[in-house]
This record gives sequence, C-alpha cells and structure tokens, in this order.
Amino acid sequence: MTIFKKTNDLRFFLTGFTDRTKKTGFVPTMGALHKGHISLITESKKTDDLTVCSIFINPAQFNDPRDFEKYPVTIEKDILMLEQAGCDILFLPLVKEIYPAGSGQDKQYDLGYLETILEGRYRPGHFQAVGMIIDKLLTIIHPNNLYLGGKDYQQCMVIKKLLHQLNLDKTINLKICNTVREADGLAMSSRNMRLNSEERKKASAIFNALELLKLNLEMGSLDLLKEKARNILYENAFRPDYVEIADAANLKIIPNWDGKTKVVGLIAAYMNEVRLIDNMPLN
Ligand code: PAF
Repeated sequence: MTIFKKTNDLRFFLTGFTDRTKKTGFVPTMGALHKGHISLITESKKTDDLTVCSIFINPAQFNDPRDFEKYPVTIEKDILMLEQAGCDILFLPLVKEIYPAGSGQDKQYDLGYLETILEGRYRPGHFQAVGMIIDKLLTIIHPNNLYLGGKDYQQCMVIKKLLHQLNLDKTINLKICNTVREADGLAMSSRNMRLNSEERKKASAIFNALELLKLNLEMGSLDLLKEKARNILYENAFRPDYVEIADAANLKIIPNWDGKTKVVGLIAAYMNEVRLIDNMPLN
C-alpha cells in the first residue's frame, strides 16, 4: 500500500493511473478502523482496479469539541488492517493540507430538510462540514465508486444529495454497504472503542430497541412503540437524543404508519460521554 500525505502527490499519481478503462474505488474514513470499514475496502476490491482509502479526522464536522479531542486515533493499527485488506492507496493528509486557510465553512450546500432533522437537529453544522470534506476529497480523488457504511443512514442520504448538487451523480456511483455488527448486535463504530467494559455490555440495547421497533411495527400511531423502545434505552443507562421512525426514502418522520410505506428506525443515544447512532429498516 502506498501512503500519500500530500494532495499534489496523490493527484499526480492518480492522473497517471486513470486511463478511463480502470476503475477507482474510494472509502473515506476518520480512522480507528474496524470490520465495518474493512468490509467497504473488500467491496471495492471486488469491483475496482484501484482502492483508495482516506483517513482524516475532519475537525470541522465535530460540533462538540470534547468529541473531537476524544476521537480514537489508532493509525498504526489502521495501516496494518488496510494492508491486510489489500487497500492500494491510503491518503493521510494533515489538517493544513486540507484546510490551508483554516477549517471554516468555505462553501454552503443546499441540504434542505435533511439538515433540519435527527442528526442535523442535534449536531448543527455537522452535515455542511461533512459535505465540505467529501467535496474536497472527491475533487482530489475523482473515484468511479464511492463506498459508505449504512450505519450512517442520514449521512448517506446527505452525500447522495450532495453528489446530485455537485453534478457528480452521473460519474460517481454511490455504494451503500450493510452495517457490520458485533455478535450481540451492536453496530461497529469507531466510538465503541471509548466504551468501558460495563458500558460495552449495555450498549447492545440500541440494537434491541431497534429490533423491538421492527418486531412490533403495526399500522396506526407509533407513539407507544417508540416509548417502549426509549424505555429499553433508559433501562440500560442510555440517554436518547431521539428514537424515530421515518420514511426510508426521504427521512420524513412518520407519526402514524399506513401499513405500506417503507420505514426505518433511527436512534441516537448517549452512554455517559459516548454518543452512538444506529438504524434498521423496519419492513
Ligand atoms: O463517516 C465518517 O467517517 C465521516 O463522516 C466521513 C464520511 C469520512 C467524512 O469525514
């Protein structure tokens, strides 16, 4: 695996590589890699001639400075995992390489409704900053395929909208891959590394709450069902930001289910200092 730290070096390499018959796959990450990330690399290896992964902890997308300070950094282990997975290129830039003029939002994206609900509501500015870093990375890498993990359901929808807005949806294929879970159902996440053993035991409650939504989904008001799911979280020391059921196609919150619309359950909750998110298609 070749590691590039400088944008120009990576650009130069990729210009030599892309003769248009070759396909490039791109997996953007913030490091602290786990099997979920590696599944994206594996997916790219099946299709693409060149697999590029980036590790960049984007300071602009952390609305909580403590979350940024405590974000796990395991770069040596990450490099080893990427090498074992057969990743071809790692882009590992410093902050000043990506934001030479500082990490302020230099461009606004029209993310519409998606920016006002769920993660958008609880993490103001977060999706604008995700848009900015993805825009910058795509401008450098120009992949044919972009791989994202389905755990970040709303982020996937935001990036889909962004690709359309940047006129990249014709040239970049967005591939959303299934969430990879631990044996007890906990969705793999870099933030899981911050849980102590007691917290880790309780953390699968998010998955259990989503399962409850799935198994008990019925036509009509969803209020009681969501309350039962919230109770599972409270019983396991979680403080939920939200437990919601939304239209899977556009994330409109559904208070009453018509028995037909495809819906997704979405949860964000704190276990002490650590905020976890997860989602599950319910029908
Ligand atoms: O999901 C993440 O790890 C980040 O939001 C991403 C997509 C790499 C952008 O910084």
